[in-house]
Amino acid sequence: MGLLVPILLALLASLFGGLYLLGAFRKQRPGEPPLDRGSIPWFGHVLEFRRDTAKFLERMKQKHGDIFTVQLGGYYFTFLMDSLSFGAVVKEARTKLDFTAFAIKLVVRVFSYISMENESKFSHDSNNRHLMGDGLVLLTESMTKNLQNLMLHSAGKGGDQKAWSEDGLFMYSYNIVFRAGYLSLFGNVSSREAGSTEKSFEMDRIQSDELFKEFRKYDQYFPKQAYGVLSPRERIEVKKLLGMLWKMLSLQVLKNKDNPSGWVHELQQTREELGMKEFMQERYMFLILWASQGNTGPAAFWLLLYLMKNPEAMAAVRGEVDRVVKESGQEVVLGGPIVNLTYDMLKKTPILDSALEETLRLSVAPVLTRAVMENMNLKMADGRAYQIRQGDRLSLFPYTVVHIDSEVHPDPLSFKYDRFLNPDGSKKTDFYKNGKKLRYYTMPWGAGVSKCPGRFFAMNEMKQFVFFMIFYFDFELKNPNEEIPDIDVKRWGFGVMQPTRDVGFRYRLRF
Ligand code: HEM
Repeated sequence: MGLLVPILLALLASLFGGLYLLGAFRKQRPGEPPLDRGSIPWFGHVLEFRRDTAKFLERMKQKHGDIFTVQLGGYYFTFLMDSLSFGAVVKEARTKLDFTAFAIKLVVRVFSYISMENESKFSHDSNNRHLMGDGLVLLTESMTKNLQNLMLHSAGKGGDQKAWSEDGLFMYSYNIVFRAGYLSLFGNVSSREAGSTEKSFEMDRIQSDELFKEFRKYDQYFPKQAYGVLSPRERIEVKKLLGMLWKMLSLQVLKNKDNPSGWVHELQQTREELGMKEFMQERYMFLILWASQGNTGPAAFWLLLYLMKNPEAMAAVRGEVDRVVKESGQEVVLGGPIVNLTYDMLKKTPILDSALEETLRLSVAPVLTRAVMENMNLKMADGRAYQIRQGDRLSLFPYTVVHIDSEVHPDPLSFKYDRFLNPDGSKKTDFYKNGKKLRYYTMPWGAGVSKCPGRFFAMNEMKQFVFFMIFYFDFELKNPNEEIPDIDVKRWGFGVMQPTRDVGFRYRLRF
């Protein structure tokens, strides 16, 4: 009996200590946003959040208004659901709201990659040098060559050129855009190694297809991996896939390539010079493959599908493509050279730009998150102010808050290819909420410090793909009446949404 009381007290103390650490006693303090911890200590609302992020956040908004704090897997996240107030998060100083502190932890957990000190500064410099300006022109040229190799390699080579091929539009678009983007960034099989230029083109086609197949398997596990809810069997499978992918991107393989982009070359070189171990550099290579190639293919699918389902939009884009090629002084002649689609030609496509922006509005749904580095005061556009605690997370989910807000974008679930065009054909940027002009009227690329540095290349890649499809192919849906598939709600928060099923289509060379 003498021992029982202290043991019971110790047990109680550790139980309360544990619950305290799990956040079970946190209360809303005066001046803080409404707090909703959820019923399961530590986990909070994570199951409902993961099941359907958009639905969960809308439910919380109905319950608490346009700012609230929820517990998700051990962290407290404050969601700001007022589009007019986004600037308060996007423009806040890094000393208060930091993207890097959040991202470093995420990439350790998901990609087993341990960042170097000052990593974001080095990467930032390389991004600016090679994904914009002159670097972007070179990348775009490579993309044209690689798309030609993947899409048009059989053109003029005899055989039944006019025969239809059938495929799923999602897998076809993802496959081609992923592979062409990968080859443009990571380089081509060297013709010296292959024995001839022709052979190196063929090896590029084969090797990039093998890489895509493994990547796609990994991609399907990605949401579960990011939430840490893989089953033991799936965990083994993902480990195996990552091992294979790291090997396919090993330094030995990369260093033998011709034409690697300045971006990938410099990111790798910097890490090597700073003494990063080779296996860690390979993990980094996979991380940038994932960041650069996981979204453009799925977005290209939605763009082509929306165009195919909207004949008026397709006719407008087709007219623009024909005009741009004609104005470049080129034409397609049977057996003649393939059209050289240049960077400058891609700058003359306002209709395609609007159709692409509309596609991204409907299909891109990231959760944008910052780590709260010190206690801070968040001022909203209407004058309200809230205290946010150090150690919490602050997040935006622009998809429901602005992309499909009917006040900002009327008839928000319909694809309107000219939504982002003024009547005079210039780009439309005036969108309003509560009578006030919105600065952030779509946010597919994020915003502020972490705004996607690859956005210009990404847009060019998708436009080049559509250009080649429209210019060189006849294509149609197998079932023209097929409905546009739903989006897979398990992928909310990770970038471009994917469809719940593929859509059959057929295509054949036009010339
Ligand atoms: C449709 C295609 C793409 C979409 C929708 C997209 C979207 C995004 C978003 C939303 C972010 C910010 C994430 C955050 O704040 O949490 C981001 C970051 C990033 N993106 Fe993209 N992206 C695309 C294509 C690309 C491409 C082609 C590249 C490279 C060539 C790229 C490279 C990056 C990198 C390196 C970051 C991290 C930036 C940082 O750490 O500050 N992305 N992207």
